[in-house]
Amino acid sequence: MSSSTDILIIGGGFIGLAIAIELKLRSAQVTILSRNFQEAAGLVAAGMLAPQAEGISPGPMLDLCLQSRSMYSEWTGKLETITGLETGYWSCGILAPVYHLPKNIPFKSSESPAEWLDRDAIHQYQEGLGGDVVGGWWFPLDGQVDNRRGLANVLKVAAKELGIDVREGVEVTEIKQQQGQVIGVKTHEGKLDAAHYILTTGAWSSQLLSLPVYPKKGQMFSVRVPDSFKQLPLKQVLFGPDTYIVPRQDGLIAIGATSEDVGFTPDNTPEGMQTLLSRAIRLYPVLKDFPIQEFWWGFRPATADELPILGASHLRNLTLAVGHYRNGILLAPVTAKLIADLVLEPTLDPLLENFRWDRF
Ligand code: GLY
Repeated sequence: MSSSTDILIIGGGFIGLAIAIELKLRSAQVTILSRNFQEAAGLVAAGMLAPQAEGISPGPMLDLCLQSRSMYSEWTGKLETITGLETGYWSCGILAPVYHLPKNIPFKSSESPAEWLDRDAIHQYQEGLGGDVVGGWWFPLDGQVDNRRGLANVLKVAAKELGIDVREGVEVTEIKQQQGQVIGVKTHEGKLDAAHYILTTGAWSSQLLSLPVYPKKGQMFSVRVPDSFKQLPLKQVLFGPDTYIVPRQDGLIAIGATSEDVGFTPDNTPEGMQTLLSRAIRLYPVLKDFPIQEFWWGFRPATADELPILGASHLRNLTLAVGHYRNGILLAPVTAKLIADLVLEPTLDPLLENFRWDRF
């Protein structure tokens, strides 16, 4: 293989696909090199769209997250029209129970409303919560998307429908540089070059470029609501202390997550599973008898300040979109838009200035 393309995206996870689709819809010629889609952090996630429940402080990151959340309905609708498939986007709201009364009120505004529910109110609002829940916040505009069974496939099919050249199983082993620009990439199948390159390699980014992105392992599991339930017991996400419970509309419930600094050590572990199970049962004891469906794990792309790295790099023709940490699913639409604007227009949204690679 030795070929040329206009824009080469290195990394075929959710962010790489979202950017490729946005570029292609604006008539760019795009190729994606994807080592292994199964490694994508977006496949590990629970699919929460939770800038408020995640407790992101007011500032550029919250602005970015709220902007992306507000794009979700239209973005998923567009992908569903292209593919005829469902993403599982559900603006169900997120209930955030607590075990200790909070000292601080979370940031709220007209575009990010929040309502405090005291002990009686929250137990009335959601039956079956753990007895030590003393209250909680209701975030009506947070939501979820079925990332594993919906969005993942929709992104891949949309890329195919649009004629994007996605080369799955092709690993970039080196980014070749000369005089301040990229002159090609080396893969085990040969060399490829492009006019412009975009790096979307998640937790593995520092293996190709000197970037401060490192893996933060997460373990997850799912249960299913038994058939004996006449209706779904949960109709919104529960985001409790160190645990979240994400009910899908067909009765599957995704539960996460551990947060571990163990490098790229793979697999579910007994301790990880015990932690997940005990936290989930404490928050919502009803699920202790639900049949377990699956355990899984993966690596979030973390950075020191927990903010993504977006925009220009030290190489003239290389753009970065890495380090989305806990918010890659949420940030996919806004990342795709801002990076496509930057590469094609080029217009620098002032918001991007806050996510520069050289801030560290
Ligand atoms: N977004 C939730 C997590 O990364 O665990």
